[in-house]
Amino acid sequence: MKVVRHIPDLHISGYVGLVPTMGALHDGHRALFRAARAECETVVASLFVNPAQFDQQSDLAAYPRDEERDAATAEAEGVDVLFVPSAEEMYPRGFGTWIGVADTGAEGDARPGHFRGVATICVKLFNIVRPQRAYFGQKDAQQAAVLRRVVRDLNLPLQIRVLPTVRDPDGLALSSRNVRLSADERARALALPRALLAAAREADPIAAARAQLNGLEPEYVEVVDLGDARLLAAAVRIGTTRLIDNVLLEGEIS
Ligand code: PAF
Repeated sequence: MKVVRHIPDLHISGYVGLVPTMGALHDGHRALFRAARAECETVVASLFVNPAQFDQQSDLAAYPRDEERDAATAEAEGVDVLFVPSAEEMYPRGFGTWIGVADTGAEGDARPGHFRGVATICVKLFNIVRPQRAYFGQKDAQQAAVLRRVVRDLNLPLQIRVLPTVRDPDGLALSSRNVRLSADERARALALPRALLAAAREADPIAAARAQLNGLEPEYVEVVDLGDARLLAAAVRIGTTRLIDNVLLEGEIS
């Protein structure tokens, strides 16, 4: 696996799959690498904690970082090129062009500027790497929906692939932020996937999820439209950690 830090040093050819990440890689990322490996000739992963998508500096500062471990994980999953740019490489002095995304609802309302940062960094990565496919997890359902719309609205020549959420055996969705939960917080967090799963079968899934969150205060519970699937999504805060999750209401994740 080649580790590349500077844009001009990227020389990529073939049918390319890109897996954008912020590191702290877990089995959810591994599933994205494997899908890209199975479907593409060349697999590129990016490792960049994007300051522009953090609405809170404390969250950015606390974001887990371990490049050596992440590089070993990516290499073991058959990634060909790991792109690890610095903040200056991606946002050089004088940077001033942003992708504005309208009506993002739920996550967008809860985290002002978040999807502008996500859309901008992803469009930059798409232009730099020129993938035919880019891979994202269902867990960040609204992110996937926003990026599908960006690709459609700006006529970008790639397909956004969405892969099902990977969960721990007890149902908690894998997230780089889970490492911040204490044992007690982790136990309480299980109410989130359980409520969503139970509510998905009800006539009014939003009300049902709210009623079954077992004392967890939701920031939002909403239905997210991915184009080919509708999802019931929610965000909760447990201590200082914010968790999101969603389950399929109808359609298929692709
Ligand atoms: O999902 C993430 O880890 C990030 O939002 C992404 C897509 C890598 C953009 O920084």
